[in-house]
Amino acid sequence: MSLTSLRGSCRRLPPFVLARSAPVTGLALRANGGPQPAPPAKGSVVTLKERTVYRLAVIPGDGTGPEVVAEGLKVLAAVAKRTGFSYETGIFDVSGERYLAQGGDPNKPSQEVISAEEIKKLRTYDAILLGAVGHPKIAPGILEKGLLLRLRFELDQYINLRPVKLYPNVECPLAGKGPDDIDFVVVRENTEGLYTGMGGVQYKGTPQEVSTQINCTTRFGAERAIRFAFELCRRRNRRKHLTLVHKTNVLTFAGDTWWRAFQEVGAEYPDIQQDYNHVDACCMWFVKNPEFYDVIVTDNIFGDIITDLAAIIQGGLGVAAGGNINPAGVSMYEPMGGSAPKYTGQNVINPIAAIAAVAMLLRETGVQKKDAVLVDAGDRVESAIMAATPQLKSMAAGRMGRGTREVGDLVAETVGRL
Ligand code: IPM
Ligand code: MN
Repeated sequence: MSLTSLRGSCRRLPPFVLARSAPVTGLALRANGGPQPAPPAKGSVVTLKERTVYRLAVIPGDGTGPEVVAEGLKVLAAVAKRTGFSYETGIFDVSGERYLAQGGDPNKPSQEVISAEEIKKLRTYDAILLGAVGHPKIAPGILEKGLLLRLRFELDQYINLRPVKLYPNVECPLAGKGPDDIDFVVVRENTEGLYTGMGGVQYKGTPQEVSTQINCTTRFGAERAIRFAFELCRRRNRRKHLTLVHKTNVLTFAGDTWWRAFQEVGAEYPDIQQDYNHVDACCMWFVKNPEFYDVIVTDNIFGDIITDLAAIIQGGLGVAAGGNINPAGVSMYEPMGGSAPKYTGQNVINPIAAIAAVAMLLRETGVQKKDAVLVDAGDRVESAIMAATPQLKSMAAGRMGRGTREVGDLVAETVGRL
């Protein structure tokens, strides 16, 4: 049964939300746990026992992270009430601030940013919402490797999903392009390539210094990212067009692994139009003809770079959200904006990206758990964002014409009405 048809039947369920204090029972809540209860058939009586209480881990983090997460949670509460799913949250105090408070060295990694115990606990949740982890006093690499990359690797979040959608009335730096032209998704491989930390340095500090940073590409890793992208392309059911982005003319080893995997997996998807772009040309097309793209699949570093370019054509970091996804495990969703220290505590940061992260969390968790109510909830949050953006003066911090909390209120109210 398709998700669309499931959605139709589930919408008729009477909405109910359990109090946060309700006891959590089923181990089926575990990401890798037992089978989820089947979605109820049309007209069937639903009892509380049949329903899942989703468990959401929240890492508010540093800077403006807690402020935008609060608005994301406000919208989550509103959509849960509207659509009738149940959830509870567990707050994780993990941040650069805590690292320093515990005596962490700001210049080199001296202790864990997140403990093994905390990661073990995270594994028991259905999904994670991350605000931002970043601190101006901490040297580059410590928090990135100590938290973000560690979670990506340990939780095997092998997909970085970055929807690039220009919402209505959002200012776009590309002349003559509007919401109809900018609506694509980048599927970035998230655990390999240049990010594995393989390589090293010799003769450091001498004129003979040599450093290598290995682009570790596996057929397994490329193939699972490619397969995810083909499935997503089918699920989106828009232009059914998938573009592989790499640099096969120079990276003739890694590029060839990706290229052959793409060809072979592609043979299983004759309904999807298949294309290839070199990464440099892709950057040019993002600016000249973004409407060319529907779904893109690419390796880790190329995906990192092109998604910053993509973020700016969709209106900037105030709106861009991303998901670190393990389709069979615990996935983590985040606004792309970082901790924005200079805006902290002023009620000026744009929470739309964090709210878009919640929309993605609901939709992807719904797909993961085969729960059409969650998928529908995610779609509703996105619709509410699209109804809200025309009411904001700008997407930039301090120039929205409303405060952070007021933007959250607007989207939450809208979701309750739609
Ligand atoms: C991103 C970020 C990270 C990355 C950094 C913070 C490690 O830029 O999520 O795109 O490079 O993946
Ligand atoms: Mn990046």
